[in-house]
Amino acid sequence: MKKITLLAAILLASLVPAHARFHPNYDESKVGTYTLPDPLLMSDGRRVANTNQWLALRRPEILSLYKEYIYGKSPPACKAVARVWDVDTHALGGHAIRKQINIELFSPISTNRVVLHVLLYTPADKERAPTFLCLSFDPNYRDVPDPLVAVYPTWNRKTDKLVPPPRKVVRGKSHNWPVNEIIADGYGIALVDYNDIEPDFADGSGWRYGVRALFLKPGQAPNAVPDAWGAISAWAWGASRILDYLLTDTNVDPARVIMLGHSRLGKTALWEGAQDSRFPLVIASSSGEMGASLSRRNYGETVTSMSKAFPYQFCPNFLQWSNRIPSMPVDSHMLVSLIAPRPLYLNTGSLDQWSDPRGEFEAAIAAGPVYRLFGEETVVSNLPPGNAVLNSSVLESFPPPPLDVPVMHDIGFQTHTGKHDILPQDWRRFLDFADMHFYGKQPHRYLPRK
Ligand code: GCU
Repeated sequence: MKKITLLAAILLASLVPAHARFHPNYDESKVGTYTLPDPLLMSDGRRVANTNQWLALRRPEILSLYKEYIYGKSPPACKAVARVWDVDTHALGGHAIRKQINIELFSPISTNRVVLHVLLYTPADKERAPTFLCLSFDPNYRDVPDPLVAVYPTWNRKTDKLVPPPRKVVRGKSHNWPVNEIIADGYGIALVDYNDIEPDFADGSGWRYGVRALFLKPGQAPNAVPDAWGAISAWAWGASRILDYLLTDTNVDPARVIMLGHSRLGKTALWEGAQDSRFPLVIASSSGEMGASLSRRNYGETVTSMSKAFPYQFCPNFLQWSNRIPSMPVDSHMLVSLIAPRPLYLNTGSLDQWSDPRGEFEAAIAAGPVYRLFGEETVVSNLPPGNAVLNSSVLESFPPPPLDVPVMHDIGFQTHTGKHDILPQDWRRFLDFADMHFYGKQPHRYLPRK
């Protein structure tokens, strides 16, 4: 009898995927000790002493490590045609100019193409507005209440099929994109469903219909080489193609386009911000593991569980770090460092322990020495000298900021009370952070620089 129960248990366990059997650690006393790789130590053993050395030597080294071992190498831009098919100068009650733009991306090797549906609002009373480029989980017509936003077929993640929009379209249900408030504050917002760039099917097969397929010959697999680009790189690459268009739009301030994403799109925002320095400011919300959270801190999601649940988001080389996290040549403070000296805001949630908000805070501190090279501050100003900050015991000695009170330095950080989400009140912080860096305005409520 016992034997049968044991057999049944083994059989049941084998039916549950490995990542579903993963038990994350949520106990601070069990996160372990760690020493982070030194972002200022060059591969030849020399230490970076100034911004020139950082920009010319060390930064490219770290960028290459991310391309080779984490997210994969993206191709250069392909041929793209942007068709602005709708312009309404009296949108949102006359406060905004709405544009709908179809960006067609053409394969350099076949007749394939991918179409991105971009929705852009800019303030009606402004010539060129700073603009948030937001990757969304939903099609444009679900994001905003505007009845004139086009409906179009979208990818269904359950059936992996392109489906026509429902007869009764539900518009503007999301609280993630408060367009009226953004416009009232003098900012524009561009939205795109990331599934347009590459459908995010749970089994990773969405590449067949997205931008990665544009670069594959018939029969060629997307992961044939160890540093092949994964889905996060693909979504990031798509954001660059939208930026190519936004820089030409006469209502957008080309020097002030902000990259923004949440969750896996927060990871994407960071990686995109790291690669494409045309974004002067980056906002990553709840980017978590393989976003801004330190991987060497064992808390919540881990590299090991991610490489099982989401292998398609990374390059094949990434999988080797499963169960070998201390050997990874990078950690998230280095991804953060790649954005320096540009301002970066990290948004986290108190109930989102899976994403490890504390790990994001520590990464922001550990990126401090790189930001300091440029005379900038991260989330704390009392950094210890040398590379002591790379030690878990030192990092753990910094108390987190109180909930709902953002730190507004060159890196901004906030943990809102609540879940894994962009809350309407988070937007006040995003706008404040942008206002502070673009226009030198005082934020509404923040932890002052010490
Ligand atoms: C999962 C995943 C996270 C990711 C999130 C999301 O929770 O584990 O890494 O950020 O999905 O994108 O919603």
